[in-house]
Formats: sequence, structure tokens, C-alpha cells
Amino acid sequence: MKLFLTRKLPCEVCDAVPADVSLAMYEHEEQAIPREELLARVAGARGIVTMLTERIDEEVMDAAGPSLAVISTMSVGYEHIDRSAANTRGIVVCHTPDVLTETTADLVFALLLATARQVPQAERALRNGQWGTWQPFQFLGIDVYGKTIGLLGMGGIAQAVARRARGFGMRILYWSRTPKPDVEEALGVSYSDLTTLLQTSDFVVPLLPGGDATRHLIDQHALSHMKRSAMLINASRGSVVDEDALCAALHAKTIAGAGLDVLAQEPIAANHPLLREARAVLLPHIGSATLETRTRMARRALENAVLVMRGEAPFDRV
Ligand code: DGY
Repeated sequence: MKLFLTRKLPCEVCDAVPADVSLAMYEHEEQAIPREELLARVAGARGIVTMLTERIDEEVMDAAGPSLAVISTMSVGYEHIDRSAANTRGIVVCHTPDVLTETTADLVFALLLATARQVPQAERALRNGQWGTWQPFQFLGIDVYGKTIGLLGMGGIAQAVARRARGFGMRILYWSRTPKPDVEEALGVSYSDLTTLLQTSDFVVPLLPGGDATRHLIDQHALSHMKRSAMLINASRGSVVDEDALCAALHAKTIAGAGLDVLAQEPIAANHPLLREARAVLLPHIGSATLETRTRMARRALENAVLVMRGEAPFDRV
């Protein structure tokens, strides 16, 4: 039974794969597998372990052939996988929720604080020799404590962010296509329609899975509802935000800032206009990037694949 890994994963993770599975992998950790090589090397695989850098579409499934039973991604997000093509072929799609929830929520909050308080801008200024004398009105951010946070979505990561926001004395609003009254009670969060949330939140935080249903949910119209003092914090999927509209809003100062850990196209193009926006804090998709969590994700992605390959139920079927 061949299991193909689209990226090199640590030995201690791969060594746990049982002997009846023959492991093949792209040999590099620091670069994504070229498309042609991916198509050639998945041939005959019963399982593919992949990540968000690979587009797993019909072409890849056809290249793997009829033996393919499972596509297991080392990510909670799965917008890079054509699920309907997989469904049609009876291929199981798995992902890695839960194991990254708290780590990602930490990063969302770190990004929110960094954006609110201009932490990267201040650090850059210091390194550039621009500290000078202490100035009473230099590097001014905005308060986080006691402000209103508006969460778009109320899945596991949003709930973990809400728990952190409570510690900061924040008023917590959320919008979701499926309101969750049990969570409202447990976490002290209030459901809001989207427009009211955008109009009243100091921090608008999409925590959505991406895909067609939420593509450009934050567009020019949505941004126009936000307060001039408000900030957009996105660590979910770049597709949720219309980046042209965001650049225009930052440029025109109709919103106060943006913290982004995800972009529509990753890595960011060297000439991307967001790189010229002083009030944008940009990170290279590090939401789940801790050693503990990435190790757990890699393990779980392999476990899910092996379970399906052996005809058993995986832990995390999408
Ligand atoms: C995910 O898991 O989907 C993140 O975006 C990467 O950890």
C-alpha cells in the first residue's frame, strides 16, 4: 500500500507508519513539490498526505489512479482540495482540526495585539536607528482591553479566540451562518447580524474555512461598514478578503489597520501593494507554527491516511 507524502516530514513522525504501508515522499522540507513531479509520483498511491501548498484536483486524482482511497491534509483548512471530485470518486478527505486550535488562537491574538499596538513597526524603527528620544506621542496604538471584537464564524478556533478575548475584558460579537446558542451561553458571546458586527466592532476577525461560500466576504462594501478606528485581523484564509478593496481602505484611512497571516496568493508577490501599507502587519501564514503543534498535525495527517488505507474510520474526516 503506497502512501505518498508531498513534503518531507520529520523521521520521528514517519517512523510510526506501520510496516504494511510503503512510504514515498518528496525529499525536500523547504520547498513545495513541483506540479509535474507531483503528478508523476502519486501514481499507484492508495493514500496522499499533503498540505496547503498543493492543489489537489481531478488531475492529481487521475494521476494517482483508481487505487487512491484517501487524501489527508496536514491542515485544518481544505480549500486546496477539490472535495466534490474526491466525493465522486469515493476518495475520503481528512484534515487536522482540534490539534491546532489553541496554537492558532494564540497567533490570532498575538496578531491582534501586534496590529493594535504597532509592535512590528516600532521594532523596525528601533532597528533602523529611529528610537531617538522617548516621545509622548510616538508609536501610538489603540487599546485592546475593553474593546469590541467581532468574530466571523464560531468554530473551534473562534471559540478559543473568544476565551482569550474574555481575559481582555472585551465585548464579543459573532456572526455565523449557523448561530450557536449553546456557545453564546458558555462563552458570553452575542450573535450579531453581519452589518451590525462590522459597524460596531473595533476588531473584525474572520475565522472561516475559506472556499467559494466565503470568498471576498470582506469586500469593499463590508469594509465600508467598518469604523475608521477599526482593524481587520485575518488568520483564516486569504480568499475571505478582497485585497484590492483592503488596500484601498487602508490607503484612504477608512479603517485603522490590518493584521494578516494569510493572503490570497502565498507567498506574497514582491510588488504586492500591501507591502507599502504602513498600517498593515503581515505574517507568512504561521498560525499553527509551533514545534508541538506542527508535530501533532503531521502525526495526525499520517494516522488519518493509514486508517483509511486499512479500511478503518479516520479521526478527522472532512
Ligand atoms: C491550517 O491548518 O489550515 C492552517 O492554515 C495552517 O496551519
